[in-house]
Amino acid sequence: MSSAVVVGTQWGDEGKGKIVDYLAENADVVVRYSGGSNAGHTVMAHGKTYKLHLLPSGILYKNKICIISNGVVLDPEKILEEINGMKAQGIDTSNLRISTRAHVIFPYHKAIDALQENALGANKIGTTQKGIGPCYSDKTSRVGIRVCDLLEPKELYEKLKVNLEFKNNVLTKLYNAEPFELEPMYQQYLQYAQELKPYIADTSLILQENLKKKKNVLFEGAQASFLDLDHGTYPYVTSSNPIAGGVCTGAGVSPKAVGTTIGVVKAYSTRVGEGPFITELNDHIGEHIRERGHEFGTTTGRPRRCGWLDAAVVKYAANLNGLDYLAITRLDILDELPIIKMCVGYKLNGQKIDYIPASLNELAQCEPIYEEFEGWQEDITNVRKYKDLPKKAKKYLERLSKLTNTELGIVSVGPSREQTMIMCDIF
Ligand code: GDP
Ligand code: IMO
Ligand code: MG
Repeated sequence: MSSAVVVGTQWGDEGKGKIVDYLAENADVVVRYSGGSNAGHTVMAHGKTYKLHLLPSGILYKNKICIISNGVVLDPEKILEEINGMKAQGIDTSNLRISTRAHVIFPYHKAIDALQENALGANKIGTTQKGIGPCYSDKTSRVGIRVCDLLEPKELYEKLKVNLEFKNNVLTKLYNAEPFELEPMYQQYLQYAQELKPYIADTSLILQENLKKKKNVLFEGAQASFLDLDHGTYPYVTSSNPIAGGVCTGAGVSPKAVGTTIGVVKAYSTRVGEGPFITELNDHIGEHIRERGHEFGTTTGRPRRCGWLDAAVVKYAANLNGLDYLAITRLDILDELPIIKMCVGYKLNGQKIDYIPASLNELAQCEPIYEEFEGWQEDITNVRKYKDLPKKAKKYLERLSKLTNTELGIVSVGPSREQTMIMCDIF
């Protein structure tokens, strides 16, 4: 057996999609194990740009089994849009499998997501408003509707009826909003069920069979370590477990099935939505990074907050995920900067600390400790071998590797497959 997991080490949008697409060439199975259509993975292949939200990034190769496993919350409208979009571009989706156990997003989840955010006012999370939180809440409250329910019309009707009664009360009485009608929603979801039926399967079984046959399995993380419900900057997090530990519950495999762990690190930091961000740059450098890096959300189009690379965050993620390798992306975005800073730790009340405080109050009082690096100030987008990178760029990367006690496995200097240097053996 050979398996690997690709996780985000920061706040998302590190380039996981690109790295998964690159590694998928040698994989047999690619699995999305958490999150939902809040994810936006941009992948360049065959000279085209693909924006994936729910489909695993392995979909762009022929003959790979692509799995959306139980840990994902599935928006049927969105997945069908993506499937049909792929088909229209001549991409075969017949190897896609969707777990019977994945929870389903309904329009009331999205409505409540938006209303809850609005009610929070200044304390809003800045969610993608895709219904993620409310759907996972229903899952843990044990009132959720699963993909397998879509295939049982009578059960679906009963479950939807009970859910709608409750949700309509919340919508009308708590938020003074419009209620939803049962019948049209039921008919719509029956229609989705028919279209999704060919893809629905027990994906945990498929995975276990493939692992037994020693096939190469690649687990694709969405979101990131600092958006993790348990380990991120709560409550400014998503509602799932994007970390490597989430693979076992999210895909239905044993901890022994999780092999190599690869942490994707953007060469600087970005965050979309609210929440603490110690190295944020609210100045011309942050603006330069946003403009040069086109740092606008794939899913919502919002401008991403930009800042210096926070090695304290990446180190924490390295331990949390048991990272074997770092995959550095977007190094080329720093090409023009004369000075580059890296945060190597925090000071709290004048003392250096070696942890990330759970309390947002304490976190807000942390000051970054920076090391300065000379910028390489040359175009690195055509570099194809690690040894050919400018010395100053290697110095920056090697310092990160040392601080995080994790080997450099991949360095990416552009969005395309060719702009990738690999120094490790994954499959
Ligand atoms: P994900 O959500 O982690 O998959 O990341 P996103 O797709 O949301 O954002 C990463 C963006 O960076 C995408 O537009 C990628 O095409 C792009 N990208 C990935 N690696 C590189 C790189 O090394 N250099 C540049 N310039 N762009 C990259
Ligand atoms: P990928 O997979 C960046 C952020 C949202 C918000 C918080 C909660 O592309 O890296 P949610 O809708 O999940 O309830 O929002 O999490 N967020 C992301 N930020 N990349 C993502 O996914 C994200 N998915 C959620 O902006 O701050
Ligand atoms: Mg993204």
